[in-house]
Amino acid sequence: MDIAVIGTGYVGLVTGTCFAETGNMVTCVDIDEQKVKKLSSGKVTIYEPGLEKIFERNEKEGRLKFTTSLQEGIKDAKIIFLALPTPPDGDGSADLKYVLRVAKDLGGLLERGDYKIIIDKSTVPVGTADRVNNTILQSLIERNIDNPQDLFDVVSNPEFLREGVAVEDFMKPNRVIIGTDSEKAKKILGELYAPFVRQGNPVIFMDERSAELTKYAANSFLATKISFMNEIAQLCERFGADVDMVRRGMGSDERIGKRFLFPGIGYGGSCFPKDVQALAKSAKQAGYDFKILEAVMEVNENQKKHLLPKIFSFFNNDLKGKKIALWGLAFKPNTDDIREAPSLKLIKELAAAGASIVAYDPEAMINVKEEIGDMITYAENQYEALKDADALVIATEWSEFRTPDFLKIKSLLKKPVIFDGRNLFELYQMEEHGFYYESVGRRS
Ligand code: UGA
Repeated sequence: MDIAVIGTGYVGLVTGTCFAETGNMVTCVDIDEQKVKKLSSGKVTIYEPGLEKIFERNEKEGRLKFTTSLQEGIKDAKIIFLALPTPPDGDGSADLKYVLRVAKDLGGLLERGDYKIIIDKSTVPVGTADRVNNTILQSLIERNIDNPQDLFDVVSNPEFLREGVAVEDFMKPNRVIIGTDSEKAKKILGELYAPFVRQGNPVIFMDERSAELTKYAANSFLATKISFMNEIAQLCERFGADVDMVRRGMGSDERIGKRFLFPGIGYGGSCFPKDVQALAKSAKQAGYDFKILEAVMEVNENQKKHLLPKIFSFFNNDLKGKKIALWGLAFKPNTDDIREAPSLKLIKELAAAGASIVAYDPEAMINVKEEIGDMITYAENQYEALKDADALVIATEWSEFRTPDFLKIKSLLKKPVIFDGRNLFELYQMEEHGFYYESVGRRS
């Protein structure tokens, strides 16, 4: 099938590449000329494991093309994906200006006898498919086109990609949600997604609004699960219980499930914080006070600071002149994304208290440098960061941090002190090696 993807950010690029991988002809459109140039020369613009290889192959084989022209991009396409940014505006709602502008432009380009399906792929507020539909319709009416609704359908097809495993999530999705009442669109999209659900995972058809809400509900529920566990961790510390045990005990109940029960120093990234806030906001606009979500956000903000009192108390509230080694800057492993990363909050507070920070992250140091520059020092590797530091703080659970050389850590640190925001190590290990060790929801 001929497909156009408008917007070559994270979602757009993964979507376009993965559809090309199953044999479709994909044209990606972006207004950023530099980006289009780079992509056209066969270079990926984001870090995502596994993407580069299939991108290069499909680009070479001519199934993946790039252009800055919307007109050229959609010319042959039967299906047009909108993967445009929806940043939070001033009051936390998703800003639809990019989506609606492209919708208007599409209305100026659609032609009689050339039916197209226009799909919202980005996370957009409930009712956006209707707004996109009406915007396109309006443009067509202005062009005096008869029966304009026959030319297109607008469908909601939210993505559920996790950064770091986006290619795998796209190629083998747990489910595909398709929100449309159009039988024609259902048939075409059912065929498009068939290769991705061969194992039997469902393609669930529903109306547009339910599809839009499904995305927010899923992300908000997962964020709630995390905040709930972070509060249980708080209780564990006060009751002398071990959150790892409680987590295992709870997670074995199939109704609860084992995943997403890991406490830590809060969720971050570009999705959970934005989506929880946007859902709370649109609930309010609809006259409903979504109390749980307000609490989820508050708990998460506090959790980002969870290690601070422990660090301050260890140093008797005096961090002036102390050197802190920081392992992990990305909001989670396998990404260079630092948006809403707990590490940034830690850095800000520790630096404000007079500590100097030497950080190491396998992928995210360039992004942090761009954001905060020389506020901290950047180490070549995880051990270099430790040299003469007064303590090690862990903010991201990169695999390579999980089985370090403890003797080396001890020899490099001034004193064997670790504050672990991701519960990487077993308590007995820490005892054996003689570390002063504080983590989340476990005894110290
Ligand atoms: C999330 C969802 O998982 C995807 O399904 C969704 O498509 C995506 O948002 C989106 O809306 O585009 P992502 O933000 O990449 O994906 O990250 P996750 O792997 O879900 O992790 C989110 C945060 O939760 C991270 O900060 C992680 O450290 C934290 N987390 C996760 C925990 O603190 N504990 C856990 O047990 C799991």
